[in-house]
This record gives sequence, C-alpha cells and structure tokens, in this order.
Amino acid sequence: MKNLSLFLLFVLVSGLSYAKTDFFRVMFNKNGDHEATIGWNQVSGDSAVVFWGKEDLAPSRYLEYSNLAHVVHANKYKGMENRFVRLINLEPNTAYYFVVKDNEGVSERFWFKTTPNVNTSKLSLVAGGDSRSRRPTRVLGFKMVGKLVPHAILFDGDYTDIDNETKWRYWFEDYKFSYSGFDNRIIPIITTRGNHEQSNDCLIKFFDCPNEKNVYNVTMGGDLVNVICLNTEIIFGGAQKKFLEQTLIEHENYFWQIPVYHRACRPHVNWKMKMKGVKQIYKRWIDLFEKHGVRLAIECDSHITKVTWPIKKGKTKGIEDGFIRDDENGIVYAGEGCWGAPLRVPDRIRTWTRDAGSVNSFKWIFVSNEEIEMRTVDYANADEIAGLTDETRFNPPAALKLWAPENGAIVSIKK
Ligand SMILES: [Fe+2]
Repeated sequence: MKNLSLFLLFVLVSGLSYAKTDFFRVMFNKNGDHEATIGWNQVSGDSAVVFWGKEDLAPSRYLEYSNLAHVVHANKYKGMENRFVRLINLEPNTAYYFVVKDNEGVSERFWFKTTPNVNTSKLSLVAGGDSRSRRPTRVLGFKMVGKLVPHAILFDGDYTDIDNETKWRYWFEDYKFSYSGFDNRIIPIITTRGNHEQSNDCLIKFFDCPNEKNVYNVTMGGDLVNVICLNTEIIFGGAQKKFLEQTLIEHENYFWQIPVYHRACRPHVNWKMKMKGVKQIYKRWIDLFEKHGVRLAIECDSHITKVTWPIKKGKTKGIEDGFIRDDENGIVYAGEGCWGAPLRVPDRIRTWTRDAGSVNSFKWIFVSNEEIEMRTVDYANADEIAGLTDETRFNPPAALKLWAPENGAIVSIKK
C-alpha cells in the first residue's frame, strides 16, 4: 500500500502518466515552409492542448515548451476521436517538438521539420499510394520512408480497401513505422483521395484537409514547388477545373508544379481504361497541365509501376491513346500505386511508355531548381537499410534496391 502511494505521488509530481493518445500524424496542408497541422486520436481524457517549440524537451518538462496550441478541429469519425491543432508562422527548415497534454497526462514527445523556404534548397519527396490491403508489405513501405527521411510524403489515395474503422486503425498503426529512426520523428504527409475512400470526409476528418472537396495545393521550398492535390472521385470540370487553373496561374512563376491525383489518365492495366478518369482527365485537365508548364504528374490506382517518357496531347500522326512523345515540353506521368495493394501486371504498354512493371514500390523524387530526379524504390528490404539523415538524404544507401528497368533507374526532368 505504501509502495502504491509512493508510486502515485511520483506520477503526480513527475507528470509522467502517459495520456491515452495515439495515431499521431503531421500534415502539410498549405505551406510546408511555414505551417503544419498536427493530428491524433484522443483515446480517453479531454481538454487536450499541444505544447510545442524548437527545444527538444521530455514530456515531463511540458510546461517549458515555448508555445501552446489549442484544438481547432475535433471530430469523431470511424470510431476515432480526431483532434487537430494548426501551427502557423513557423520558421522554415526547422525542427519542432511537441507533446499533447490532457486531463489524464502527457503524451510521448514527437517532432517534425518544416521545409526550407528557398528554391536553392533541394527537396526530397516520396510519392505513392494504394496501401490498401497487404499489411506486411505496406509496413515495409512506411519503414522505408523512415529510412529515407524525405521532407514529405505525397500520399495518392486508397489508404485502405474497405474504408472502415478496423482498416483505418490498421493503417494508422502501420503509418507509425515511418516515424523516422524510431525517434518519433514524423514525416509530414500531403494527402489525396482515392476511390476506396468512400467520401471526401476521410481526408477532412482524419487529416484536416483544408478543402471540403479535397482539392487544394501545398507549396514547399519557397517558390520551388507547388503540389496540386486533385480528386478523381468528384466532378473533374466545374469548380475543380477552375481551382486547378487558378492555382496553376497563381504559381506560374514557381519552378515546378506537380499535380497528384488517384485515377490514371492512361492506366497501364488495360481493363482500367474503362475508368472515368481516362476520358475526364484527358478532356478537363491535361490541356491546363500543358499550358502552364507541368512536367511531372503523379498517378495511382492500377497497382503497377510505370514511368512515361515526356508526352504531350496530340492529334497528329504518331499519337497513341491521344499522346505523343515530346522530350522538350512533354509531361512525365509516374505511378501507378504499389504501396501494399495486390500487384497487377501492366498489359497496356504504349510507344511512349518508358518502362512499366510489377514491383512493390513508391517514387522517390528529388526536386531542385534545375532538375527533378526520380527513382522508383523497391522497399522490400527496408529492414536492411541504414537510415539516412538530413545531411545524407540525397545519397541513396548502398543496399537500396531501385527498380532498374530497361531505360534506367533514374528519370531526370530538366527545367
Ligand atoms: Fe484505386
């Protein structure tokens, strides 16, 4: 009894009783240089606030954090109590540490980093999606993210297969494997909706997506890159097209604009050619991409890996499925979603297909003001990879397995 009292006293004094919070995530929803949203699942307890700052402090020292953020968005969704704080006016290229404090205790300490706000800094991004069902495989993908420490993950839809509570719990469990170096560093995620998300609510309720239609843009690296998250599950024209045009015009002076959307315009799995996106993306979006200088687009959905040569829409002789190769001005389409979903075999290869295959993989993209350099990472041996650091993040580890098809493992897109 005496021991128990001493223990309780210790807990009370030290503040070391862990709050029941889980599934921490960090989102870049607008500008990765200066803003970030922190989300979590409030398992029990209430009155949660986030203590945060530039100093790395143990949970017991939560009162010494220099800032306090209040929950600005709370919802109950698919059995989870989602809470969000939005941090603004952050310094670029800076580590921020945080804990959640509620009426039951304090969480573990987590941290993340903002992106640099100058276009002379290179960015490392991981882009992929379709993580929906094979958990051991997708865990390896998340582990590999942790090893490569990209500035952000562009997640391109189909998080789970049936979009229910159990499957989302599994997804959030697996996402934790990306907590880099297992020091609770969270790689910020930029989310896009897929067809297995049954409504736009998923991104809003789980990731505090800033737009009710899941159509929005995120800038990083000053004027280096504008990532445009589109939604292939709603009307392609109308307001979505208007937004697309507007953001492309607003960021015309940026070095790169990268649209990310789930359904592919030209799937490399033949039966997927029946999907709505095939006609709609071609008709509504591609002209705008081309008019405003897009050079890389990220697609998903078919569960294969593919990279096209730079291609343009065309009506002349030599086109295939509406496109023709144009190395000078064309757009490279990369995808198509192998983050754990069952692999398929690419069976619709065009003259302008650079390479296609069946590999559990995601794209690893280095963005500088001169070039985009893209690799396809076969993440199966994530456990054998020595983790990179912020200083070494552009040096692929020796043991890293890259997809190395006929036309080479590295795709270079020059400005
Ligand atoms: Fe899909």
